[in-house]
Amino acid sequence: MFFPTSFSLGLLSAAVAVNAAIHDVQVGSSNGTLAYTPEAIFADVGDQVVFHFQQKNHTATQSSFANPCGAMPGGFDSGFNPVPANQTDNFPTYTITVNNTTPIWVFCDQAANTAASHCGAGMVFAVNCGADGSPNSFTNFKNAALAIGTELKAEAASVSAAAATAAPAAMTAAATEALTTAAYGDVTIPAAPSASLVTVTVTVEASQWTTVYSSYPGSPEATPASLTGNTYTVKVGNNGTLTYDPPFVMAQPRDTIVFEFHQKNHTATQSSFAAPCLPLASVNGSTPLNSGFMPVAANATSFPTWSVTVNTTDPLWFFCEQHAPDGSSHCGAGMVFAVNPVQTSARNFTAFENLAVALNGTNATNSGASTTSTSPSASPTNGASNLGTNVALILGSLFALAAGLL
Ligand SMILES: *[C@@H]1O[C@H](CO)[C@@H](O)[C@H](O)[C@H]1NC(C)=O
Ligand SMILES: *[C@@H]1O[C@H](CO)[C@@H](O)[C@H](O)[C@H]1NC(C)=O
Ligand SMILES: *[C@@H]1O[C@H](CO)[C@@H](O)[C@H](O)[C@H]1NC(C)=O
Ligand SMILES: *[C@@H]1O[C@H](CO)[C@@H](O)[C@H](O)[C@H]1NC(C)=O
Ligand SMILES: *[C@@H]1O[C@H](CO)[C@@H](O)[C@H](O)[C@H]1NC(C)=O
Ligand SMILES: *[C@@H]1O[C@H](CO)[C@@H](O)[C@H](O)[C@H]1NC(C)=O
Ligand SMILES: *[C@@H]1O[C@H](CO)[C@@H](O)[C@H](O)[C@H]1NC(C)=O
Ligand SMILES: *[C@@H]1O[C@H](CO)[C@@H](O)[C@H](O)[C@H]1NC(C)=O
Ligand SMILES: *[C@@H]1O[C@H](CO)[C@@H](O)[C@H](O)[C@H]1NC(C)=O
Ligand SMILES: *[C@@H]1O[C@H](CO)[C@@H](O)[C@H](O)[C@H]1NC(C)=O
Ligand SMILES: *[C@@H]1O[C@H](CO)[C@@H](O)[C@H](O)[C@H]1NC(C)=O
Ligand SMILES: *[C@@H]1O[C@H](CO)[C@@H](O)[C@H](O)[C@H]1NC(C)=O
Repeated sequence: MFFPTSFSLGLLSAAVAVNAAIHDVQVGSSNGTLAYTPEAIFADVGDQVVFHFQQKNHTATQSSFANPCGAMPGGFDSGFNPVPANQTDNFPTYTITVNNTTPIWVFCDQAANTAASHCGAGMVFAVNCGADGSPNSFTNFKNAALAIGTELKAEAASVSAAAATAAPAAMTAAATEALTTAAYGDVTIPAAPSASLVTVTVTVEASQWTTVYSSYPGSPEATPASLTGNTYTVKVGNNGTLTYDPPFVMAQPRDTIVFEFHQKNHTATQSSFAAPCLPLASVNGSTPLNSGFMPVAANATSFPTWSVTVNTTDPLWFFCEQHAPDGSSHCGAGMVFAVNPVQTSARNFTAFENLAVALNGTNATNSGASTTSTSPSASPTNGASNLGTNVALILGSLFALAAGLL
């Protein structure tokens, strides 16, 4: 459907300044269409994209290929631009500048996460997407958004059906998903997705290489944003809260996650979806990620950091190992973090956070509150086989990627 015509990677910035173009994009229309027109463009570095907001109440919000209908942490957002039906000119505009050749993915945030989601109706836009037929084509992006819309509508329908028969909504929604049990505690969780090995040729800037990685429904691309990757800073325990801020990031291989530890004494410790508040066990000599405890004095003004380089497209799950003086765990209070959770799946970030609270919260029957001296290398005493399965899945593709990519 869409082919690059004037897509030039090699333009020098000096040349760009002279030739910088303005691309006008209509957002919605007088007849209420839920679309950006045109819906995909190619632009050179230095070009500007001007969004013209027509009738209704739309946004132009940056997302990512992996999560088409979710705001990208740190991305741009026009905010809502309500335009009454009888307004015929002086439409509000929002302008972005194209800073590099990395694809820019955009959606309308109106009615987010509801059956009426504009994004779920296909109201998405892209700058410098992959050509048709490539994994990150506009068609694939839009289809992913439409799939989210279909899911949201099905969810709404099953919720209202469940409400009508007075059955618990969660049961109905969960019935369509494969299930398994958590690695400890007595909680049913969505099963891990099945992955397939994919071989792709990756082109970044002037470099090209072949990589083999596990792909599963909703997994992000294996293509780094650039040779050095992007950097995401995550504040740990900002302002005394038991949180990671942002709570998750969508990252590509070679991106760096910088954990910045604020006051108190937190960790960023790798776990798994099925065992959210247990350090990931070492398998065949692998070293699961763990910052260790990072005590920060109350009067500190500079904060220690710990960095992780992403080298997989699989979700990575983290928690804080600390316990409060009353024995309750930070993890059970929902202090968890993720890289690349598949937000369109049942194993999304909210599900992970809820599971941590259910398994290790103060109300959990098996909260681990008494184990105040959990050692990072301790192996789980129960549910070991479930944990093992999960670990194998993650590490298998980690190794595959590490071998092909870095
Ligand atoms: C609605 O507006 C769009 C853009 O102006 C146009 O392409 C489309 O044909 C219109 N649809 C109808 C049903 O009028
Ligand atoms: C525009 O949409 C947003 C989000 O749904 C809503 O909060 C806001 O009130 C709307 N504005 C108008 C004027 O309808
Ligand atoms: C649009 O309609 C509202 C209310 O009916 C009115 O107050 C406003 O002046 C109208 N605006 C235009 C541009 O006609
Ligand atoms: C381009 O860079 C400017 C300044 O850093 C930033 O505000 C803007 O959001 C960037 N544009 C895009 C599309 O990311
Ligand atoms: C930090 O926490 C205090 C008290 O809980 C609150 O008043 C303040 O607004 C917070 N500051 C920020 C930047 O969140
Ligand atoms: C940080 O917490 C750990 C685990 O609770 C503890 O062993 C360590 O002594 C604490 N460090 C400081 C400086 O409080
Ligand atoms: C913080 O307080 C401690 C003890 O009161 C003191 O030794 C230290 O110098 C202070 N640090 C800063 C950055 O003010
Ligand atoms: C990436 O690979 C290196 C070396 O294999 C490893 O030490 C590192 O922990 C990996 N990063 C992640 C996020 O798994
Ligand atoms: C995300 O997780 C929540 C909580 O488990 C669940 O209600 C929701 O359906 C999940 N979203 C998707 C798209 O599966
Ligand atoms: C947790 O326990 C407290 C007191 O036992 C109770 O009031 C509260 O409703 C419980 N919360 C949940 C989510 O079960
Ligand atoms: C969470 O609960 C499990 C099972 O009781 C326990 O082994 C683990 O140490 C707990 N995690 C934390 C951080 O308390
Ligand atoms: C660990 O190594 C053994 C022996 O080489 C192998 O059979 C097993 O599959 C490996 N486990 C994982 C999770 O890679």
